[in-house]
Amino acid sequence: MSDKIAFYTKKNIDSWNEAAPRHASINSSLISTVLNPAFNNLNPDFDALVDSCNIKNKSVVQVCCNNGLDILSVKNKGAARCLGIDGSKEFISQAKELSEDANQPDMEFLHSNIYDLPDEFKSSFDLVIITVGVFGWMPDIYKFMEVCSSLLVADGQLLVEEIHPILGMYEEGKPSYIDSSYFNKEPIKDSNGLDYFNKEKYDAKENYWFHHSLTEILMAAISNNLRLEHIKELSYNVGNFCADLEFVKHNPPLGINLSWRKIE
Ligand SMILES: C[S@@+](CC[C@H](N)C(=O)[O-])C[C@H]1O[C@@H](n2cnc3c(N)ncnc32)[C@H](O)[C@@H]1O
Repeated sequence: MSDKIAFYTKKNIDSWNEAAPRHASINSSLISTVLNPAFNNLNPDFDALVDSCNIKNKSVVQVCCNNGLDILSVKNKGAARCLGIDGSKEFISQAKELSEDANQPDMEFLHSNIYDLPDEFKSSFDLVIITVGVFGWMPDIYKFMEVCSSLLVADGQLLVEEIHPILGMYEEGKPSYIDSSYFNKEPIKDSNGLDYFNKEKYDAKENYWFHHSLTEILMAAISNNLRLEHIKELSYNVGNFCADLEFVKHNPPLGINLSWRKIE
């Protein structure tokens, strides 16, 4: 891992560890919710994308799984091996607890910086999934796609639900407004914390967000033997960032779903 990647990812993971107890208190109602064997946390379009892959008996890994609710949702649909990977030790321990509460003790969780994955996981999964709020934590989107691609077997699929790259231009407000160039390449430093639910600001460890344009995302995938099979821009809020824009007259896309297939 380069010094640059190591520096930014350590800062970001420290910041997520710091946020974990706050998220846990917000999420305490989850324990009763995940008891439902049909528990499904996926947004409608991503849910349909997952279903289109006939996931019964397939092996699935979620990269940056946070507290594991999305990979648990996939497991509940009948997937076979399910692994969640996250750099935050705190969130991995929440994910383990929630999967046990959900009576899915076979689920696996790994605490690892995604840029530093052990080789044993390479070429092991039919599906890699990524759900909202991941690309922006990655200082190097090309190397990140390389890791995602390396996890897949030949013909495996990478499924992504993300905040639409156009939102990189916006700042939250009432209403949210355009504040940056779409082509901004400077890391965005923040120390107001990671409370996406209540939007409460706290004096937090600094973290860094990286804007990746649609071109960069698509080219990173192409460079890593991933063939685009599906793309859909979403008009509804998927990431709680600038969510008010869903209801303005001249609304930008707020989310995006993509799927790629690994070619050898
Ligand atoms: C917004 S959350 C993603 C949530 C996801 N949509 C979910 O709930 O399933 C971003 C996650 O990325 C993780 N993360 C950030 N940088 C990482 C890195 N370099 N390696 C592994 N995980 C990382 C954080 O710990 C955090 O849990």
